[in-house]
Amino acid sequence: MKNMLKIDAKAGNHKIDKNIYGHFAEHLGRCIYDGFWVGEDSKIPNTKGMRNDIINALKAVKIPMVRWPGGCFADEYHWKDGIGPREGRAKIINTHWGGVVENNHFGTHEFFELCELLETEPYICGNVGSGTVLEMQEWVEYMTFDGESPMASLRKANGREKPWKLKYFGVGNENWGCGGRMRAEHYADLYRNYSLYVRNYGNNEIYKIAAGPRGDNYHWTEVMMREAGYFMDGLALHYYTRVRDHSIVIEQQDGNKVYLKKPDAVRGSAIDFEESEWFAIMKAAWFTDELVVKHSAIMDKYDPEKKVALIVDEWGTWFDVEPGTNPGFLYQQNTLRDAVSAGISLNIFNNHSDRVRMANIAQIINVLQALVLTEGDKMVLTPTYHIYDMYKVHQDADFVPTEVISDEYGFEGEKLPQISVSASKDDRGRINVSLCNINPHESAEVECLLNGMKAGSISGRVLTAGAMNVHNTFKNPDQLKPVDFKNFAIGDTGFNTTLPPMSVVVLTIE
Ligand code: AHR
Repeated sequence: MKNMLKIDAKAGNHKIDKNIYGHFAEHLGRCIYDGFWVGEDSKIPNTKGMRNDIINALKAVKIPMVRWPGGCFADEYHWKDGIGPREGRAKIINTHWGGVVENNHFGTHEFFELCELLETEPYICGNVGSGTVLEMQEWVEYMTFDGESPMASLRKANGREKPWKLKYFGVGNENWGCGGRMRAEHYADLYRNYSLYVRNYGNNEIYKIAAGPRGDNYHWTEVMMREAGYFMDGLALHYYTRVRDHSIVIEQQDGNKVYLKKPDAVRGSAIDFEESEWFAIMKAAWFTDELVVKHSAIMDKYDPEKKVALIVDEWGTWFDVEPGTNPGFLYQQNTLRDAVSAGISLNIFNNHSDRVRMANIAQIINVLQALVLTEGDKMVLTPTYHIYDMYKVHQDADFVPTEVISDEYGFEGEKLPQISVSASKDDRGRINVSLCNINPHESAEVECLLNGMKAGSISGRVLTAGAMNVHNTFKNPDQLKPVDFKNFAIGDTGFNTTLPPMSVVVLTIE
């Protein structure tokens, strides 16, 4: 069957927030240390301790925002450990991630320097699970108060005279799990309490983000919106695309869920997999749509004007670690499968951008679905990096609605839509359309009706390969990268195109 696509070039009444292309960097494995941070004395070319090659690569894909310091690490992080002369900083155990020593050499000042180098917005996640209200209040004062106060004086004594500009602040992380194992009702009250002391000093206005549900925990969203919706700017959903899950859920009587880890389950290899695992990841990526729709419906009930954003605060693929690496470091390779599933997820976020206004892939370097992998002084850009490069055209562009009648991709009796699409209009009036064909065997013919615009010319790029598990390595870093795409024909009412099997295509129509 031919796939049908209708693009309404004149419709759409909001922007696709650039923060949908946001990122997450945790003190986990080699994301910060041996990732961004090599230290000022390293032989690897760096600026103030941050690797130049990584900074340049990330600036090229326009990263709008970075969330830090966790993750689970955030709810054990005590920010005062990470300020002052580095040699005097506390050494602590990173209990969540490998039990390694955290020397706190990368702290608040280093994070803001990193954001300045990346020309990106900082997003800080505070500690509710094991921190106090006072600790959170003082951190915000330290970072943003421009006057005389104990915390402002401490910042100045540590070499930073002027406060930083900080917009995004998360009040805890996964407080249903590693952030305190709380019930929604308990966290809703704590959120109300902690968030009150996250103050706006001077003209620094903080956008407050509450810890949201894990996956399909709709009860959490219901309680948070009902009890605390008025006090938040965003609610943070966490959802990972997995072949299978390590966790089992114990449903409690009141609808709250507790998750336990099943030590014997495996998530499958990132590079060595069969079609069943390709299909499972595509299915898990498509499930994001159901999650966004159902959580949004609950939010609509309490917030019909959509003042509170649904933030997909952590998302991405999660496989077994690469053989021989520390299981607590979550280091995985990244193939064409990751690229196509990222394409689907980003299309879903674009298509729901009236409510979804931020999404942070986990994590930016060397952890889970990374954009960049490093080994010593070498760096590899993953297929997922290339998707961010191709999709950057959507950042802050006007959302353009699309209608799709898709063929199906079936595997062992189950079916998924074969194509995924989203579109936007840039400030020069060009339409950018991103299309994924998830079928690993068959190309997808797409007939597109373009309403409200006549296509004069089209250009495009495609990311595809001859096998599902093609990936970039330190020996062969350019195995998979986007190339020019010309497989389209302009007609009177729109255009036709044929997407190769397992591909992501971005077309620009003028
Ligand atoms: O991204 C890895 C971990 O996944 C984060 O620390 C946590 O928030 C989530 O469970």
